[in-house]
Amino acid sequence: MDLDPADFYTGIVAESYAPLRSFSPDPETYAAFLRETGAPALELGCGDGDPLLALRRHGLDVEGVDSSADMLARCRRRAGEAGIAVTLHHQRMEALDLPRKFRAIFLAGPTFNLLPDDSAATAALEGIRRHLVDGGTALIPLHVPSPSPADRIGEVHTAIADDGAELRFSLVSEERNEARRTQTSLLRYERHTPEASTVAERPWLLHWYTRPGFEALAASAGLTTVSVTDADGNTTEDDADYTVFRLRTDQRHSE
Ligand SMILES: C[S@@+](CC[C@H](N)C(=O)[O-])C[C@H]1O[C@@H](n2cnc3c(N)ncnc32)[C@H](O)[C@@H]1O
Repeated sequence: MDLDPADFYTGIVAESYAPLRSFSPDPETYAAFLRETGAPALELGCGDGDPLLALRRHGLDVEGVDSSADMLARCRRRAGEAGIAVTLHHQRMEALDLPRKFRAIFLAGPTFNLLPDDSAATAALEGIRRHLVDGGTALIPLHVPSPSPADRIGEVHTAIADDGAELRFSLVSEERNEARRTQTSLLRYERHTPEASTVAERPWLLHWYTRPGFEALAASAGLTTVSVTDADGNTTEDDADYTVFRLRTDQRHSE
């Protein structure tokens, strides 16, 4: 079965996401960005609500977009449990169509690398441009994935789901295509209870960019690169494997 990359985080993957995650984005990084840019703001790929819900808890006017109804259902449930009001949109970032424009649009981590090719990236950048007010800013973290060390293949990570089921996760295989700038990992997710077992293997595709290549895609969508930094906001080398792009609307493309 062919799985659209935008549907990767559904079903057993959405269920396993929070219990198996090893890293959460620091909300303060994004709160500081929003203090600079002003609101309203939009998080693309908000998933089950990190850092979106923390930003909403601080009263910031931020909405969320995600392509996975299952991740959004988890986000809504967490928001309800915490008494936080949040506006969520079930859309793909490469087909963004919202009734409002924003002063800031951001991704909290390298979720933009989940877009499978340059044409999806261009569509997403054009959507971002259309949904920014003039002078608005986009923050897009990007990474160049490294090939996984051989000993990671088959290594099993486990966690316990809310209902007590045992969740297991492992890397089955990995393929890298330097010409297409893609790395596809076959990931295996398992869920076991005394009564039943579910196993799913899904391809997880990452697509990366060179720095000039991404600047050119952004420019073609009407977005000017204002800075490229590391995660802490410091200047970074052209070939760094983690970069944060800040893009601003280009007046030539203003309507
Ligand atoms: C790694 S998760 C990050 C979620 C959240 N920001 C966090 O850090 O917990 C990536 C999220 O991006 C969403 N996503 C993937 N492709 C997408 C697309 N094309 N458009 C919108 N969301 C997408 C997935 O459904 C998933 O919820």
